[in-house]
Amino acid sequence: MTTITIDLTDPEYRLNPWPIYERLREEAPVMYAKGQAYDGSDFYVLSRYEDVTACLRDKKNYSSQITGQNYLNLPLLVNRDAPEHTRLRHMTNRAFNARLVRTLGTWVEELVDSLMDRVLAGDSTEFVEAFTTELPLRVVGGMLGIPLDRKADLRRWSGAVMNMFAVAAGMDPDEAPGFFEDLVEFGNYMGTLAAERKGKPNKGDVLGSLVAEHEEGMLDRDELATMAFSYVAAGHETTMNLLGGGMHMLLSDPGLAARLRAEPHLTASFIDEYLRMYSPTQWLLRRTCGETELHGVHIPQGALLHVLLGSANRDPRKYPNPDVFDLDRENQGDHMAFGAGRHFCPGAALSRLLAEHAFNAYYKHLDRFSLDPDDPPQLRSRQGSYGLARMKLLISQ
Ligand code: HEM
Repeated sequence: MTTITIDLTDPEYRLNPWPIYERLREEAPVMYAKGQAYDGSDFYVLSRYEDVTACLRDKKNYSSQITGQNYLNLPLLVNRDAPEHTRLRHMTNRAFNARLVRTLGTWVEELVDSLMDRVLAGDSTEFVEAFTTELPLRVVGGMLGIPLDRKADLRRWSGAVMNMFAVAAGMDPDEAPGFFEDLVEFGNYMGTLAAERKGKPNKGDVLGSLVAEHEEGMLDRDELATMAFSYVAAGHETTMNLLGGGMHMLLSDPGLAARLRAEPHLTASFIDEYLRMYSPTQWLLRRTCGETELHGVHIPQGALLHVLLGSANRDPRKYPNPDVFDLDRENQGDHMAFGAGRHFCPGAALSRLLAEHAFNAYYKHLDRFSLDPDDPPQLRSRQGSYGLARMKLLISQ
């Protein structure tokens, strides 16, 4: 048995992590990655479904506050424990509740149709840029009251938040030059936007709710700005990975496409099985609150844990033949792609809504699209995030 090494800088670990996940699950369910972070520090890796779920649900022994007090310690929801998390999360639940999300259906459908019409007007398209990036940005940006002319900035800011997480996880900051300046700029922009809305009636959108909370003294200015960060960053890249991956799968698997076009009610299963196999968020971070022992490995207090959602979702103990895409799998909905426990993704209903509308539009126009054989799709190489960076499609008129 050879020693398993996790090289966070190795593109292979980002683009094809499945073989290493399998080895981890079988040979080292708690792996001690001694000195394997970019800065030479240690971390531990959990890879089995049972351990990943238990860790995410155990708020007593595992903390989400992964950064030090004076380093990238922004009041982000995802980065906080109770009681602060409970307060911030309560507001988020109100802003993204299922009832509100359902009212967005018509708006989302119109957005999908107009983006699709635009894409179909040409002979070819870079679909990630033209559609999968555009849809979640417009939706989340719209909910936050960010005007369309700031779209390019919004994308840059969203990337900066993702890079902040990667740096907090140990990525060399030089790999993400300028990310901190972009974060500050985004925070200031949201502050200005919120100031303009002060004292005005709440339009019922997310920005309006945040401003109302701020005016009632329940949210300070930094929190208001960073809540907006959370929604843009958490909602954009993840959803775009689902939207792009879904299209790629439909174009690469004619049998699957034919079945879904004939039975569109299976779209919810398609979304779940896709998320299970290709989780847009491949891993989360936690810190141990005290010493603990798991599978015979001693984990010290304050240790950084990489909690591999992407591996948990392919654990054969939970999913027989885990590497097979199976629309009829009974327990596909138990996947960990949206996390678990108190930090469970509050945007799950919204991203499902976007994917439902987008995939139904794909079914309708699928015959007109094909992958460009001269320009194959490319995966993104951002740490911990899995999905397409680029997908050139040819369109028949
Ligand atoms: C396919 C799409 C999505 C995936 C796979 C996804 C995945 C996740 C995961 C795994 C977490 C848990 C983080 C943790 O436990 O540390 C999370 C949290 C979060 N997600 Fe999503 N997400 C998606 C879409 C969205 C959308 C559309 C939004 C909002 C616009 C959103 C907002 C958030 C926020 C604010 C959190 C932090 C919640 C907390 O810490 O309490 N997500 N997401």
